[in-house]
Amino acid sequence: MSKLLEILGCRYPIIQGPIGLFNSPEMVAAVSNAGAYGMLALGFVGDPDEVKRLVDDVRKLTDKPFGANLMLMNPHNEKILSILAGAGIKAVTTSVGSPAKVYPIIHNLGMKGIHVVLALQHAKSAVSAGADGLVVVGSEAGGLRTVNPESSTMVLVPLVADFVSVPIVAAGGIADSRGYKAAFALGAQGVQVGTRFLASEESPAFEQWRRAIVECGDGGTDLLPSKNTRMAERVIITPWIREKKADPTVKCIADELDYQPAKTGHYDRAAFGGGQVSALIRDVKSVKEIVAEMVS
Ligand SMILES: Cc1cc2nc3c(=O)[nH]c(=O)nc-3n(C[C@H](O)[C@H](O)[C@H](O)COP(=O)(O)O)c2cc1C
Repeated sequence: MSKLLEILGCRYPIIQGPIGLFNSPEMVAAVSNAGAYGMLALGFVGDPDEVKRLVDDVRKLTDKPFGANLMLMNPHNEKILSILAGAGIKAVTTSVGSPAKVYPIIHNLGMKGIHVVLALQHAKSAVSAGADGLVVVGSEAGGLRTVNPESSTMVLVPLVADFVSVPIVAAGGIADSRGYKAAFALGAQGVQVGTRFLASEESPAFEQWRRAIVECGDGGTDLLPSKNTRMAERVIITPWIREKKADPTVKCIADELDYQPAKTGHYDRAAFGGGQVSALIRDVKSVKEIVAEMVS
């Protein structure tokens, strides 16, 4: 058994990518029931009752292992971690921020932590800070990242593998059995999959979002920088984004996007987060079918 599977405790080394503001206990449980590692996104959750509710909702649907993602700028992480440990969760991932302070807490609670990195330098410092593994995310991935000129999965995964000895999880651009197999050839012990699971039947993505992924073709995503931070979001280019890009008076498209259109009704300007791999996704399938095809 690989070191990564020992950490995760599941059958297949596939982690479901956490999706920022969106949680679907049905999807987390479906991923775990399919033999992979379902993941709650707790990066923006502050209320301990909300954490307990989400964990309970998943637990009602699966007795298999699942985890959670924490963002390191969240001031509630210590409390969240003790709730997760109390609920029997054995492994978490950590993103966006310095891992130095949180890893002693994770280890004192008897858990393992895998840190999400976008560059070699951060991979090295995460290992020094005690990370038990790394999710190495290439620049083609969907969702939030930095505006730095980062490397693609094909370059970054073997590069990090040359310098660290902890297990590596490749992320960015993996949607099917071809990407899954390639990740191992690059030096990873497993994969993290975001966009492909977003276009699943159990996904928290609303209908328009799933359709945007399925209809997205080659070159159909863009990395849009925000105005006041060094962060950027990879989203699917919609007619609204195309219009704004052609308008020289628009300074920052990312800041005008609507990240929760289900609440506001502004679907025209919605942020459909998705990676370049959307071009390979042509249907909405069940999580079980996605995992079965990937490991086939
Ligand atoms: C809309 C969206 C939100 C995301 N939110 C998070 C997050 O909260 N934490 C995190 O570590 N990664 C986040 N990610 C990254 C995914 O977990 C995963 O690493 C990435 O999607 C993998 O690349 P792929 O989309 O090519 O599969 C997000 C991705 C998307 C598309």
